[in-house]
Amino acid sequence: MRELKIFAIVAFFTLLTYYLVEPYAHSVMHKHVEGHDFTYPDLKPVTAKGDAANGKALVAGCVGCHSIESQGMPAPMDPVTAAASYGVNPPDLSLAGAIYDEKFLTNFLKNPVHAVHLDHKFDPAKGKMYPMPPMAADDQSAADIAAYLKSIAPKVVEPKAAFENACGRCHEMRYAKWTQMGPVPKTKFDIKTQTDPEKMKFDLKLAEYKKHLVNYMGKLPPDLSMIIRSRSEKYLETFVEDPQSQLPGTAMPRVGLTKESYEKVQTYLEEVGDSSKPKREATAPWVFGYLLILAVLAYLWKQYHWRDLH
Ligand code: HEC
Ligand code: HEC
Repeated sequence: MRELKIFAIVAFFTLLTYYLVEPYAHSVMHKHVEGHDFTYPDLKPVTAKGDAANGKALVAGCVGCHSIESQGMPAPMDPVTAAASYGVNPPDLSLAGAIYDEKFLTNFLKNPVHAVHLDHKFDPAKGKMYPMPPMAADDQSAADIAAYLKSIAPKVVEPKAAFENACGRCHEMRYAKWTQMGPVPKTKFDIKTQTDPEKMKFDLKLAEYKKHLVNYMGKLPPDLSMIIRSRSEKYLETFVEDPQSQLPGTAMPRVGLTKESYEKVQTYLEEVGDSSKPKREATAPWVFGYLLILAVLAYLWKQYHWRDLH
């Protein structure tokens, strides 16, 4: 009987901590945010029907800042020069029609700062301009550009590409050898001088890029290699959907991904930061089964030995 009482007390406090104290502490430290499943209800829906051919003509205005590699349009400048001008290297647009939500994209082209939820940071009245100017004068041209970007976008986007294109200009991913300037180049260590001159050149440029990025963002965006372990799935999802909902005043833009492309980004964060997750999850039922059988055996064992002593 005594063991049973002790067990009841331990169980009581464990459950109390688990169901009341922990969730309470959690709710105080992380406010609960209901997401909108990447539907962006605050933005104006697209009503105009896009004309891709007209969009193609309008995109001539983008390639002074952006590359569209899939259409043979290279970056107009190297990443460091771009970051010196704009704070960050403008992303390649080959995937834009696939990874960004259409409603977000059309709103973004008309009024970029507003769509990314950074009105508090950029204010033309105070001479603080968002580096990308409004590119579409009306709904029709916004829809045309979006239609063109959609027409050139690949049907399938790999998780890695979704991450690199949507997040990679700001976030490093060291475990995947990704820097804000692209993949870490394969260079050769020189035995004679005991140095890697190419790598040193790259690192110097990267330091310069990061300096511009810090000036632009106010701080260096964190390396995301392990973020999947330090933040909950729900937190990451609602944060990326709208960073202001979790960190009011933050400099990270609302990126405007579709739900599907967010899931790709998440898959990639998991692949890099928690590659053993599928294995671990497959093992869990076996471990619980083992513990259960062990508990039953232990109980029977005890019954067997105490049988005559009572
Ligand atoms: C004057 C330079 C400039 C021009 C012209 C320009 N952009 Fe940009 N664009 C940028 C910069 C800089 C960023 C990155 C801003 C940031 O991440 O803070 C950006 C970001 C973007 C993004 C990513 C948005 C997101 O949610 O992350 C898209 C999509 C985009 N531009 C599309 C276009 C299209 C389409 C055009 C032409 C119609 C265009 N841009 C013209 C500079 C420019
Ligand atoms: C234009 C730059 C920029 C882009 C693009 C960007 N981020 Fe960020 N991100 C930031 C900055 C700056 C911070 C630091 C925010 C802060 O502490 O206020 C940040 C922080 C984060 C954090 C940490 C949040 C926390 O609670 O500590 C996560 C997670 C994150 N970003 C994920 C992403 C993902 C995923 C993408 C792509 C879908 C992305 N970011 C795209 C600039 C960016």
